[in-house]
Amino acid sequence: MSMAKLTLNGEEYEFPVVVGTENETGIDFSTLRARTGAIALDPGYGNTGSCLSTITFIDGEKGILRYRGYPIEEIAESASFEEVCYLLIYGHLPTDDELAGFVRELRLHTMIREEMKDFFKDFPMTAHPMMVLSAMLASLSAYYPSGSDDEEVDLNIIRLLAKAETIAAFSYKKSVGQPWVYPRNDLSYTENFLRMMFAVPAEPYVVSPVQARALNLLLMLHADHEQNCSTSTVRMVGSSQANLFAAIAAGVYALWGPLHGGANQKVIEMLRMIRADGGDYGKYVAMAKDKDSPFRLMGFGHRVYKNFDPRARILKKAADEVLGDLGVEDPLLEIAKNLERVALEDEFFVERKLYPNVDFYSGILYRAMGIPSNMFTVMFALGRLPGWISQWKEMREDPKAKIARPRQIYLGERTRPFAPRAARQAEPAPELTSA
Ligand code: SDX
Repeated sequence: MSMAKLTLNGEEYEFPVVVGTENETGIDFSTLRARTGAIALDPGYGNTGSCLSTITFIDGEKGILRYRGYPIEEIAESASFEEVCYLLIYGHLPTDDELAGFVRELRLHTMIREEMKDFFKDFPMTAHPMMVLSAMLASLSAYYPSGSDDEEVDLNIIRLLAKAETIAAFSYKKSVGQPWVYPRNDLSYTENFLRMMFAVPAEPYVVSPVQARALNLLLMLHADHEQNCSTSTVRMVGSSQANLFAAIAAGVYALWGPLHGGANQKVIEMLRMIRADGGDYGKYVAMAKDKDSPFRLMGFGHRVYKNFDPRARILKKAADEVLGDLGVEDPLLEIAKNLERVALEDEFFVERKLYPNVDFYSGILYRAMGIPSNMFTVMFALGRLPGWISQWKEMREDPKAKIARPRQIYLGERTRPFAPRAARQAEPAPELTSA
């Protein structure tokens, strides 16, 4: 094994170098503090690996994404979301029998406990569906013991995957004041979801195969993305041995942020704003470059991809196809394409390697299915669920896994005597000035 050398305070130390399947290189600093007294400091963890994993591989420079070694482009062409769930969680593409058994299990668990519907009643109609989704997923732990034996864990994984889409559809029906539509077990995952979302008692509902195919693609493209913010949150919470439902509910909240999964809703709001402003996308590119403006081009940029996000490339193509098949003209698509073209030619974006990410085109497709923008991040969460589960399972089964507990460098006050109230003066708020 090769070693990395570190010199600190005149002392030289060696640390083992870990090389991954695709030759990524990591320095194993797990003994750093014990041997040197120093810690590695990496705010935002952009240069820090939290684990070893066999699930997903990303090469940000080359724009490569593979689930268990299968290129995302081939998965997008040929797989079903149920197959991708199985692949991520159990580690291999299912045989016919394995897939049939998995789908049968899922269908046996799509219903939620009847009394859980009362929980929805007490949320205001204005409650964001991401808040509802997380609260309802966490409440599953009140009904299903999160025992530690593998059988119980496997059953809870099925329950979570199956019930999440019912909960998501119910949260939509709650927000529009329509009656719930119960799941049907003769439908695929995507057909079931679309029907629970859009069927109304007043008229028959036929699932559009174009929309079902588009939703299948969207869910697969979102299924996993190695140690992103929400997945790292799931691992962090899971590392304390909190139960699966609690860890996933935490991941939903992390995903909600506009810098992460919440960006897909912000992209559409941005495109609508540009359209309302006469379609002057050049003005918004200029705003995104202006250091004095807080405005960012939502759906652009990525911590890992410094090339095209392969998912954005696939979704851009799918947007044209699906809107064409559905006969939908969406002016926001043209604005998005123009915005992309102008940004990709602009030095500011080129220099910073800012490309469209998965969130830039996904909203156009959700809109084409009639899904409202406040449900977009819920759709992202439904897609990411098998990824979160697979990462949580991998950590749970890792004999070396331990509770995640990062360190810090303290910049606060030195020791000082407790001041009696009479002697206290107003003080400025402490500032985090860099050391
Ligand atoms: C997802 O990690 C994952 O894998 C996430 C994800 C997944 O599948 O789980 O891929 C899903 O979250 C995609 C990202 C969705 N978020 C957005 O689209 C929000 C807009 N983009 C960003 O705010 C930003 O690009 C991030 C948060 C995605 C990445 O931020 P980084 O890596 O911390 O980069 P940074 O903020 O340090 O930016 C580097 C430079 C800065 O300029 P300078 O200080 O060098 O002058 O690029 C600029 C930034 O100002 N910049 C942008 C920009 N993104 C970065 N400028 C304008 N518009 C943007 N969108």
